[in-house]
Amino acid sequence: GVAILAIDGPSASGKGSVAQRVAEVLGFAYLDSGALYRLTALAAQQAGVDWCNEPAVARIAQSLDVCFDNGRILLAGQDVSALIRSESIGAGASQVAAFSAVRRALLARQRAFSLGPGLVADGRDMGSVVFPQAQLKIFLTATAEVRAKRRYQQLIDRGELADLLAIMRDLQSRDERDAARAEAPLRQWHDALLLDTSELSLDQVVECVLSWWKT
Ligand code: CDP
Repeated sequence: GVAILAIDGPSASGKGSVAQRVAEVLGFAYLDSGALYRLTALAAQQAGVDWCNEPAVARIAQSLDVCFDNGRILLAGQDVSALIRSESIGAGASQVAAFSAVRRALLARQRAFSLGPGLVADGRDMGSVVFPQAQLKIFLTATAEVRAKRRYQQLIDRGELADLLAIMRDLQSRDERDAARAEAPLRQWHDALLLDTSELSLDQVVECVLSWWKT
């Protein structure tokens, strides 16, 4: 079978940057599953569909016209890479991700990424639901304070306005919603290794993940 490394964890724990770097080093494909939930929220918004409307949002998830192209993300041919990273689309993603019909609609699309030599999959339920057969499962986390500071820095680097306290509050409510939902709640899966990145640099985290992968 295809080699799979599953990296799950809460918002702004650094999963995305770590998973991408590790995929590059190993020559594996990379799945940003959060992007699919963000794309679903954006496509619903563009179609005038309310994020509370489970069946309508699930139909949108099922029929997403998306293309991952060298780090760029195209929705119906339009480059939405920047658009889907906004805090409001993040909130919409977390809302639609609570619906089981939406999660079901995105399942096959996520599994289709496991081609070629291997895959690094980043999300909330990669090791539990989507790729339970993964050879290595990591639960990547950091304290709420460190994660809020990282998200804050990301926004500043992108030239956006950022309010640390508001980010802190937003992360907390997202964490609570992700952990409390009935479908694929966010938690460390029983066979996942815990990696707390609060005191580690990106390079150190990447090094640690690669060393675990090799053993
Ligand atoms: O890192 P951040 O939470 O800001 O964003 P993300 O990883 O792009 O995920 C956006 C939202 O999608 C999260 O709040 C989760 O609720 C949801 N999600 C999920 O439910 N399952 C996944 N495998 C990935 C993301």
